Amino acid sequence: MDRRRLLQYGLGSLGLAVAGKPMLVRAAGKAHRREAFADELAVPPVLASEKQADGRELIAFAAREGSREFFSGVETPTLGYDGDYLGPTIRVRQGQRVRIRFRNRLRQTTTVHWHGLHVPARWDGGPRQPVGAGASWEPEFTIRQQAATLWYHPHAMGLTGAHVYRGLAGLFLIDDEVSDSLPLPRDYGIDDIPLVVQDRRFFEDGSFAYVQSMHDIMHGVLGDILLVNGLDRPFMKVPRGLVRFRILNGSNSSIYKLRFSDARQFFVIGSDGGLLSRPVTAAEAIMTAGERLELLVDFSDLGTGDGLRLMVDHYGGYSHEALAFIGSGRAARVNQVPESLREQSRLEASAADTSRYLAMETRSGRGMGMMGRGRLSINGRKMDLNRIDERVALGSTEIWEVENVSGMMMQVPHSLHIHDVQFNILDRNGQPPAEIEAGRKDTVLLWPGERVRLIMRFENYTGIYMYHCHMLEHEDDGMMGQFEVVDPDRISRAASRLLSPES
Ligand code: C2O
Ligand code: CU
Ligand code: CU
Repeated sequence: MDRRRLLQYGLGSLGLAVAGKPMLVRAAGKAHRREAFADELAVPPVLASEKQADGRELIAFAAREGSREFFSGVETPTLGYDGDYLGPTIRVRQGQRVRIRFRNRLRQTTTVHWHGLHVPARWDGGPRQPVGAGASWEPEFTIRQQAATLWYHPHAMGLTGAHVYRGLAGLFLIDDEVSDSLPLPRDYGIDDIPLVVQDRRFFEDGSFAYVQSMHDIMHGVLGDILLVNGLDRPFMKVPRGLVRFRILNGSNSSIYKLRFSDARQFFVIGSDGGLLSRPVTAAEAIMTAGERLELLVDFSDLGTGDGLRLMVDHYGGYSHEALAFIGSGRAARVNQVPESLREQSRLEASAADTSRYLAMETRSGRGMGMMGRGRLSINGRKMDLNRIDERVALGSTEIWEVENVSGMMMQVPHSLHIHDVQFNILDRNGQPPAEIEAGRKDTVLLWPGERVRLIMRFENYTGIYMYHCHMLEHEDDGMMGQFEVVDPDRISRAASRLLSPES
């Protein structure tokens, strides 16, 4: 791979207009990009719970400010959960009662949202549950879903992009009996490795270049430096055999294509909401902002000291050598890719009680602003905390048909995410979904002009949840709506009380 050309390409692509400060130019000024593949990959620690006086376990963590040397000799101001950048991995089991104490040690309001988790609306951690500077928040809920790789991140109104960009995000893993019993790698940090993939751009003084021109709002704040678990081009030693990767596209707005430098095939074993029914062979995988994939990669052919790279191609044009794998010569614990994983029942269109239509629109219609603000909407509306956009009956199964309606001028992809549920993709442009998209999902990519039909069931909890574009600059600009799950029995009981006043 021609590194020099990539760098030049990267710099060339920095023709994004940024008012004021210049962008970081590597090897200029004080900031020097760190040597490639010199730092060993860091794996976020699993957050240990604390035993309370009443004998119950408490998961406690805090958001705080910090700094990190992404570039040699320059400190970048950051945000992190417990540490300087990103956060510890929260690990729970299906059926577990989880009690959390979150402290906001920032100087700003934030929230903690459990992305992909089915929780009561008041513990969802969306923009309706702000945690003020210095305040705490203590959610308590039961894990009512199967093993999966979820994540947590802030979600305060209008601030999600700014907080995530500076480092607030962590993994949230669920285990269950099925995932325990499958012959998959599951030694966390040894052969079961989380990879949080994020692109970032920096100013020359080392600070994050999180500014939003109209271009940045429309296309997302895209960066020329790719971080894996918060490190620029780390390396990891891999055993001879299988390694499992739990990959999160933790970028603000980027779409990535993942592949290996030697074009080797790998096996996709899980999507957003859990394992697939069987491993799917692939040589590349596309991931939109907020999506997760679990992969098995076979390194049994790698001799001691041999290497290859994880490549991350950015839809915006950059191509990154993201992570180097170096053969350790050690024997892996798992060598055989299982034939099947977990039986996953899919919801069928015939099961639906209702359907809805969501247009994710990019246009400069009447009454909309001249600049970026105003162009992004869902069904012509921008997010309003005081408006419920959709009412859903508890216990119902619904089809949401989502279309990316892009104007002639603005061909922008979107990443639709729905809180509270895991859905199935019924079809994409009328075609059945690809095998890696056929499992449980909570986030879905829509290229300009695309139309997907999603099916989901709303169970257990009533209350108000969000759906939105997970391109965080779009979300913060208002490409978000609220749905309220209501209990139809309670409504009809209330109605019959009104109709018969004497009762
Ligand atoms: Cu990942 Cu509404 O969030
Ligand atoms: Cu979410
Ligand atoms: Cu979008």
